[in-house]
Amino acid sequence: MDSGLENIVAAETSLSDVKGDIGELIIKGWYVEKLAASMAFEDVAHLLWQSAFDDLPTVQTLGEKLGKARADIFTHLPNSANPADIVQYLRLGWAQERDDEQLETAIRLAAGGLVYTAAAVRLAAGQTPIPPDPALSSSADFLRMITGIAPAANTARALDSYLVTICDHGLNASTFAARVVSSTRAGLTSAVLGGLSALKGPLHGGAPGPVLDMFDEIGETAQAEAWIDAALARGDRLMGFGHRVYRARDPRADALKTAAGQLPGTAGRIAFAEHIEREVLGKLRRKYPDRALETNVEFYTAILLEALEIPRQAFTAVFACGRVLGWIAHAREQISEGRIVRPKSIYRGPVPEMA
Ligand code: SDX
Repeated sequence: MDSGLENIVAAETSLSDVKGDIGELIIKGWYVEKLAASMAFEDVAHLLWQSAFDDLPTVQTLGEKLGKARADIFTHLPNSANPADIVQYLRLGWAQERDDEQLETAIRLAAGGLVYTAAAVRLAAGQTPIPPDPALSSSADFLRMITGIAPAANTARALDSYLVTICDHGLNASTFAARVVSSTRAGLTSAVLGGLSALKGPLHGGAPGPVLDMFDEIGETAQAEAWIDAALARGDRLMGFGHRVYRARDPRADALKTAAGQLPGTAGRIAFAEHIEREVLGKLRRKYPDRALETNVEFYTAILLEALEIPRQAFTAVFACGRVLGWIAHAREQISEGRIVRPKSIYRGPVPEMA
């Protein structure tokens, strides 16, 4: 029995290859570092969905459709939702979509993530949601829907780097959840809701916000060692470190550190983070000499999203805005695979009395 399924190969995929031993990530034939430095949200949506939909248009038309979808989705924000819980607001927003397996639904789910997350951020701050501008790119419009002003090109570029870097990552828990749901032919909306529900956990996509909480509690570099020792003595898991697959450094960590470093005013924060990272890695290596616990994607995600002035309670939802592209692509792969996911289990319960 393999409860974490870590040694089980559950699918063949053309979407991504997580080379955990050597710390490499390939997404549809591209090293993630190259994608992060050159592609936008629309480009990577097109890349991931190429073999998923026969009616996929050009990247430019896909971008236009995403913009139109944002404008339409904005007309029915889930007014019953509590925006303070941004993942819940996103879940209720996405749940309004049709539950079929078509490209139109995929486009609305990809566009809706950004619209619902931006609206929830505004409502949680007591502000009125800002209508989309379909003429802008997805990343630029998302930031504009939060701040009210169209961002500088390098700022939108930094968000594109993030959304592209995290768009797909093999059979992580949320993507596997999306594949299980789509294997019953429940529909793309149900698959995405399954993925989001798995992602919100602190062991998975709920980690980047707590990375900043850790920075706040440490306060200054001189306090780092004592704080980390106390946390490890309590048996805490340090957010942003360790990974089920990577036994080397997660390549996304440096891709995101590079993206954060291109934003103004981040040098001091990155230097602070690097100090904390060095301290944590040293202590984890001493505590778990036989277990490679390296920096994962979430550590520098926190620095980058903070630099983009996205509130930390929105970090998981923003992760979902990028990963939704991968969930949909994997759901379509599972659908074409055509088999319901149904593993075995070993019964340990009571044995009935003889009849
Ligand atoms: C993501 O799967 C994916 O691809 C996920 C993801 C994606 O793109 O979808 O990469 C995104 O989820 C990244 C991970 C974000 N989560 C965190 O940063 C939370 C902190 N990390 C851990 O909880 C943990 O490392 C996991 C959940 C990520 C991985 O856990 P595993 O593989 O089950 O590791 P394990 O529990 O077997 O750990 C072995 C030992 C344990 O000690 P013991 O209980 O045996 O004494 O190492 C310890 C763990 O307690 N350990 C940690 C630790 N991670 C593992 N100790 C302190 N801090 C940590 N971060």
